[in-house]
Amino acid sequence: MRKIIILVIAVSMISINSNAQSSTAAPATATGDDLVLEPVDGGGMPLLEVLRERKSVREFTPQEIEPIRISRLLWAANGENRPSEHKRTAPSARNSQEIEVYVFLSSGIYKYMPEDHQVKKIRNGDSRKQVIKPETNMDAPMVLVLVANYDKMKGFEVADRDFYAAIDCGYVSQNIYLCCESEQMSTVAVGQIDRDKIAKLINLKNGKVMIAHPVGAR
Ligand SMILES: Cc1cc2nc3c(=O)[nH]c(=O)nc-3n(C[C@H](O)[C@H](O)[C@H](O)COP(=O)(O)O)c2cc1C
Repeated sequence: MRKIIILVIAVSMISINSNAQSSTAAPATATGDDLVLEPVDGGGMPLLEVLRERKSVREFTPQEIEPIRISRLLWAANGENRPSEHKRTAPSARNSQEIEVYVFLSSGIYKYMPEDHQVKKIRNGDSRKQVIKPETNMDAPMVLVLVANYDKMKGFEVADRDFYAAIDCGYVSQNIYLCCESEQMSTVAVGQIDRDKIAKLINLKNGKVMIAHPVGAR
């Protein structure tokens, strides 16, 4: 009986220890399965300076992006800038707010939730190479994927829906470009992606995977 008790204690200590290891392997912002985003403050470069510098960069450093920069980037991409009205940094046709941002990190796939500025884990494991093909040599520590959620565009004719979703996606993409420049990060819009494969990874039922943005620190 004593041996069994000792064994049970030993096994539970190993399991506590392995949990601790897996959470330290995850990004610094990870608590449990989700990421906790820091509140976004002011700051950043003047807009005209950012526009002067905006560019596509296709080479990325492997170092993890600091939590505050992830937080600023997601908020800038399509966060709520007028929370009392639930309105966003990016405009959208008829205020559909259909463009959703998925975050691919080495620790898993996450979905950005603008309403509470948090990031929810939806899948474990590193799927970044399934978005940005290895042969492009654009290995980045983080990949953002922009998705149009058609459930939020039910009042549109199909042709209008696709047209407006593409326009709305462009605003979010440009927000990402501008924030990356302001935060001294590198990015490029990537349209050559396997949309069906990504849709399966994020379990997309009614929508379209639009474009991806690999992102790295400079
Ligand atoms: C919708 C869209 C899709 C793009 N797809 C790719 C792509 O698949 N691969 C790539 O290397 N660049 C891609 N780009 C980046 C463009 O090549 C880049 O914006 C263009 O060459 C102008 O360069 P600049 O962004 O530095 O001004 C894409 C850009 C946009 C707007």
